[in-house]
Amino acid sequence: GDNRTPYEMIGGADTLARLVDIFYDHVKQHPDLAPLFPDDFTEVKERQYQFLTQFLGGPTLYSDIHGHPMLRARHMRFPIGTIQAQAWLSCMQKAMDQAGLEGEIRDHIFDRLRLTAHHMVNQWEQQ
Ligand code: HEM
Repeated sequence: GDNRTPYEMIGGADTLARLVDIFYDHVKQHPDLAPLFPDDFTEVKERQYQFLTQFLGGPTLYSDIHGHPMLRARHMRFPIGTIQAQAWLSCMQKAMDQAGLEGEIRDHIFDRLRLTAHHMVNQWEQQ
């Protein structure tokens, strides 16, 4: 069997750093997402890199530095509807293509991210 973590299967730190860079290049150009973010993406990129590393079974970088992720709580100060969740996922899909993630492992990771993105939705009113 294959005992590697998803983190190892996609190529570890190098791949994740590339994925996160490409992902936020799309986010900062997306009209439904860009207004939510600060002009400087340095900090959010770093935190997302740390989070995804541990999410995929790599070192617990995020929790070591910032404590429990409590992702939904940390997103409550931003209005996130299904439109934003879809937008986030479409940016991630493009980034995965461009970072060269393929096959079953890519589908598995995307499925988990889709659940997480929908879990962040905190408003259902007409926007
Ligand atoms: C932080 C938006 C989904 C992981 C943020 C920030 C925004 C945001 C605006 C804060 C930027 C700042 O610091 O000013 C969104 C939107 C989503 C979404 C609109 C759509 C559903 C996700 C998902 C994940 C995630 C699915 C994880 C897979 C993170 C992490 C941070 C963050 C780790 C940093 C949290 C912290 O340490 O404060 N997000 N996000 N986000 N997001 Fe999301």
